Amino acid sequence: MKRIAIVGAMHEELRALLDAMPDERPVLRAGREFWVGHLAGQEVVVVLSRIGKVAAATTAALLLSEFDVSRIVFTGTAGGLAPGVNVGDVVVADALLQHDMDASPLFPRHEVPLYGRARFATDATMSAGLAQASRTMLADLGAPQARVHCGLVVSGDRFVSERAENDALCARLPDALAVEMEGAALAQVCHDFGVPFAVVRTVSDRADDHAHVDFNRFVAEVASRYTLGLVQHYLDKLPAP
Ligand code: ADE
Repeated sequence: MKRIAIVGAMHEELRALLDAMPDERPVLRAGREFWVGHLAGQEVVVVLSRIGKVAAATTAALLLSEFDVSRIVFTGTAGGLAPGVNVGDVVVADALLQHDMDASPLFPRHEVPLYGRARFATDATMSAGLAQASRTMLADLGAPQARVHCGLVVSGDRFVSERAENDALCARLPDALAVEMEGAALAQVCHDFGVPFAVVRTVSDRADDHAHVDFNRFVAEVASRYTLGLVQHYLDKLPAP
């Protein structure tokens, strides 16, 4: 049996997903509860990664080594970087990069040493399915003005909450759409295991001086409905197991 893993970074998202599972059962590993069961008719394992790159990498490695997982979807929120990536929009990554990786001058800035690359591509079929599911979810939730963006998402162990840091990131990585704290770690682990993955993020803030206020409001009021809606639409469109 091959399961689809759904990984969330926040309790609010996990709660909404678990409430929609008829038969979830927890399996404890490394202090995490991996919830095995069904969602929208598919075999899934749902887990809270916690926050940051190390937590995400640990979670991904456990999923891939112990839970018979065929692919991983990472959900959560992100701060908008590119102009026009606004609060309430959705970003589907086509590639991920660690913006805080810097082994220069030994290796070019952002390159992961000994991998010969800075960017890790997501699975194109999964990403297209998630983009379509996000559009359907936004229409269902009555947010037709919200947009779905596809492109580069950057990750680092920092919550970006100052205009100056946002400006520096945009200057260094002009094609980055959004910033978060886990996706590129998941991407590197999935690359190591040769397993397809995708990252979908709802934009909770603009990674600027108001980011923490906007983020808390978005997580409390909106994030879990977005995540549940888009994950259900995505799974609905997959062939029956
Ligand atoms: N996730 C959501 N908003 C973020 C931000 N501003 N920086 C890093 N990760 C985020």
